[in-house]
Amino acid sequence: MIYAEILAGGVGKRMGNTDMPKQFLMLGNKPIIIHTLEQFLLANEIAKIIIGCPKDWMGYMNDLVAKYIGKDDHIVVIEGGADRNGTIMNACHYIEDNYGLTDKDIIITHDAVRPFVDYRIIEDNIKAAKKFDAVDTIIPAADTIVESTDGKVLSSIPVRDYLYLGQTPQTFKIKELVETYDSLTDDEKKILTDACKMFVIKDKKVGFIRGEEYNMKVTTMHDLKLANAILEVGLNHD
Ligand code: CTP
Repeated sequence: MIYAEILAGGVGKRMGNTDMPKQFLMLGNKPIIIHTLEQFLLANEIAKIIIGCPKDWMGYMNDLVAKYIGKDDHIVVIEGGADRNGTIMNACHYIEDNYGLTDKDIIITHDAVRPFVDYRIIEDNIKAAKKFDAVDTIIPAADTIVESTDGKVLSSIPVRDYLYLGQTPQTFKIKELVETYDSLTDDEKKILTDACKMFVIKDKKVGFIRGEEYNMKVTTMHDLKLANAILEVGLNHD
């Protein structure tokens, strides 16, 4: 079975002073998370779309689904985790407890705050997950990326041809993902903010597919302005 999780368990600290987590803020005429959810609803092969959000916002999220989508039994709202990987693990355990798990089951995980994900990106993730246990969505780095390990001077300037920027979705064989997460020490769990990174540090292969420039993440208020401009001009369909 193919499952999707929309990761909405964060509170959006970097957004500054807002009266709700950023995934619920309006983008054009509907909340950011509804744009995201609508793209996943286009993929008929997804059996369940799980939304992991903060406990206190679960009722609000259910109301949003009722208002913008209507009654839909294949959308489920669950409680998110203390960190991003925790939110992913909650969905994996929810799936195991409610539907059981086979070796082939996959989960497409996606940031609620990347509202311009599209059908092509979702489909490419599903196809690549047939070949790899873990799949990332990436775009080539347009700028030179420099590294400074002490925050004062540059320590290296890696060759740009080998550098990419990570986006989401990230897609996993669920059993492999849970096994990999459970094999981490508590210290490793703290530093591994990116789910694919768990596979990389355990020397497991991570395949990738091409994302899009417009598959941006809304992190700050500036990003929200940018996202509104993209929507207005239609740059998310170039
Ligand atoms: N996320 C999640 N569960 C958490 C933390 C984050 O599902 N415990 C989700 C966020 O809701 C978001 C995505 O992961 O959709 C990307 O994370 P980020 O942009 O860092 O979101 P926040 O953690 O909300 O932002 P901030 O770091 O500014 O607080």
